[in-house]
Order: sequence, then structure tokens, then C-alpha cells
Amino acid sequence: MNYDETVRVLRERGQEHLLRFWDELSEDERRSLLAQIEAVDWDAADLGRHAERVACAKEPKPIKGVSLTEIARDRKAFCAVGEKAIREGKLAAVLLAGGQGTRLGSDAPKGAFDIGITHPLYIFECLINNLRAVTERVGCFVPLFIMTSEKNDAETKAFFEEHGRFGYPREYIRFFKQDMAPAADFDGKLLLEEKGRLALSPNGNGGWYSSLARAGILEEFPAVEWLNVFSVDNVLQRIADPVFLGATILSGSACGAKVVSKAEPHEKVGVLCLDGGLPAVVEYYELPEEMANARDGEGKLLYRHGVILNYLFQTKKLAQIADQRIPVHIVKKKVPFLDAQGKRVCPEEVNAYKFETLILDMIRLMGSCLPFEVVREHEFAPVKSRTGVDSVESARELLQRNGVEL
Ligand code: UTP
Repeated sequence: MNYDETVRVLRERGQEHLLRFWDELSEDERRSLLAQIEAVDWDAADLGRHAERVACAKEPKPIKGVSLTEIARDRKAFCAVGEKAIREGKLAAVLLAGGQGTRLGSDAPKGAFDIGITHPLYIFECLINNLRAVTERVGCFVPLFIMTSEKNDAETKAFFEEHGRFGYPREYIRFFKQDMAPAADFDGKLLLEEKGRLALSPNGNGGWYSSLARAGILEEFPAVEWLNVFSVDNVLQRIADPVFLGATILSGSACGAKVVSKAEPHEKVGVLCLDGGLPAVVEYYELPEEMANARDGEGKLLYRHGVILNYLFQTKKLAQIADQRIPVHIVKKKVPFLDAQGKRVCPEEVNAYKFETLILDMIRLMGSCLPFEVVREHEFAPVKSRTGVDSVESARELLQRNGVEL
């Protein structure tokens, strides 16, 4: 879009202020600003005007998964199917590392955080060690696709190189960048971070597939039929787990989700259920009281499958749903911005909406999903903050309990 077209688009949307410092910009800055404005997803940004809450489950029903007991009984059969698929090159792993990790309070990529005590042990290193435990047993490597964002891409790549990719071969690692989304103030006006730059931040973890597909990485690995997508911050994450893969393949589902049994009704994890016959994840802050507290005949929580951001997605189905939109969630955050006089403001309180899509909303589109129960103490140690629940402290304790030397 040229300048005149951009002015027209902005005027239609009441966003002309984005060009208020135009006269002060260099040619390069002008070009860059026009490109950023052209890339804005206005459908998402317009939501800021009324801050709609994303609807939660309308017709919730519990979903049947494979329990720990069933997994123990069928372990051998699941494992054989999963290992065979891995040897045939049918599985790739996708590490979601595009987040900003604001709660951890470090500007570096979250995976570069050193969780060691007596020696360095980086989060990325923990994850690669977990993956290598499988690849060494199975006898072949699993391609690893790492999603970064504009904010941490260069640093993440440099970190991996600096550490010899923690022993993982270069030819099996690919990086791809997720998209950025603008932030808006509470009147829906997009914010500027600099005179020639919008305040942009990663657009949530729901855009991983479109970004991966756009990067053309899947074409390089045509045998891949399953993607094991996982978050950067669970240091006990079992990646490319053959038992999980085998169980999902044998179930005939297009998707699988590792779940832990919720410890209590209000635990802060999303809940996997059925909604109108389709699998769906209800976020903990959207979970109605009666759903949270409902119990079955044995007294167990009816909606107990807590998701831990470790999913299997069938690539065939992903390609079919690629064009479908997933809901945009609106989150209130503190976003530094330039005021009308061009002065940088670092707000003390939340001042803006960010627009994010979430991977958990893709589960419904997949049409079927197998909840696969895992032992929380062995597979779930998220690092969200420095101290307290889901923190560096709690993750260290769990790592040590699982025999990892810190
Ligand atoms: P979180 O929801 O914990 O967000 O991410 P975060 O950005 O890492 O941390 P806070 O909320 O700012 O403290 C869950 C997973 O999704 C990835 C994260 O890297 C993490 O693996 N993620 C999140 C992305 O890849 N992109 C995003 O835009 C957001």
C-alpha cells in the first residue's frame, strides 16, 4: 500500500494517529511503517473496541481418555506402534518458543534460562535431553521445528549455535518465526512503540501451524504425518513419546493431548472436554463453577483432564483446517507506547489490549482428540515465574525428584 491508500484505510478505521509523526521519519522508516500497517489483521484488532469475551463451552460433556491404568496395560502395544512410526520418519516435534516469558522477568528467550544450581542447565538443554532420551532408544532422530518470534529469533538461534545445539544434529533442526500482532489502548486505538513503529508483540501460540506451513518446512520432510507440539517451559516435558504416539494412532483420532488429572477444581489448567460433540479446551478462567465442581459416581472430578501443552496433530487434518479462523483472545497487558507528543510512556498499570490466538482452540477444529493421562510428578514442571506455583523453584524440585542433577 502506498501512503494515500494507507491514509484511506486508517481513516476508515479511526486510526490516522499512526501517521502523526510521518514528517519526522526517514524514507526507510516510512517504508517500514507502511508495511507494518499493511500487515495488520484488522478483524482481530477491531475486537479491541468491544473486547468480546471468547465464548466457553455451550454444551459441555466429559470426554473419555486413556487412563494411567489403561496405558500401563497396553503400553507395549502402544510403544511398538509409536516407535515404528518414528523410525519411518512420521513424527516431527514442534517447540513453541515465541512467547515473551514476561512473568519470568528476563528479556532473553525463556529457553535460555539457566535452571541449574551447581552447574549450568538451560531450559532448552533440558528439552533436548528429554528428546534425545527417545531418539537414542529408537535409533533415529526426530526433526525438531522451533518457533521463535521477531523479538527473540536471532538470540534463540545464536544460543543454540553457541551450545552446539546440545548435541542435536543441525540437519534435523529448523527455525521459523511466528507473526506479530499490534496492541491497542482501551479505546481501540493502536499504539506506537516508536515514531515509525507499531507496538507489536507475538500473536499467541495459535498461529504456529500457519507460520510453519508458510515457512515451507513441512515440504522438506514429506514423510511426516504427526506433529508433537509442546511448550518451552515444561522442563519435564516428554517429547516424541512413542507410547503417546502409538495410543493416538491406534485410537483413530486426528489429535492427542497429554493431560494430568486435576489436583483440585480450580487448578489453573485448561480442561479438555466435549462441546457439542467436538473436543474442546475450556481455559481455567472461563470454567463455570458447576463444571469445575462436578463429580462422577466415584467422586472423581468429572472434568479432570487438565491440558499441559503437549499435543499430537495429524498433518493431513491440519492441512484441511488450515483456512479456518480460530478465536482471538483479548488480554490486558502493560504495553510501553509513545504519547501524542512523542514521549515514551512505560505504564505502571495495564493500559492495552493484546490480541492472541491460542493453540487450545485448534483442538475443536481437529474434530477428534484423545486425552492421554500422564503422571504429573514425572511430566509436568512448568516454569512460569521465579518463585511460588509453577516457578523456577518448583521446577527445580521436580527435576531433582526425577533424578536430574542440578
Ligand atoms: P505462555 O502462555 O506461558 O506465555 O506460553 P509466555 O509468553 O511464554 O509467558 P508470559 O505469559 O509472558 O509470562 C505458553 C507457551 O506458548 C509459547 C510460549 O513460548 C510457551 O512455550 N508462546 C506463547 C508462543 O510460542 N508464542 C506466543 O505468542 C505466546
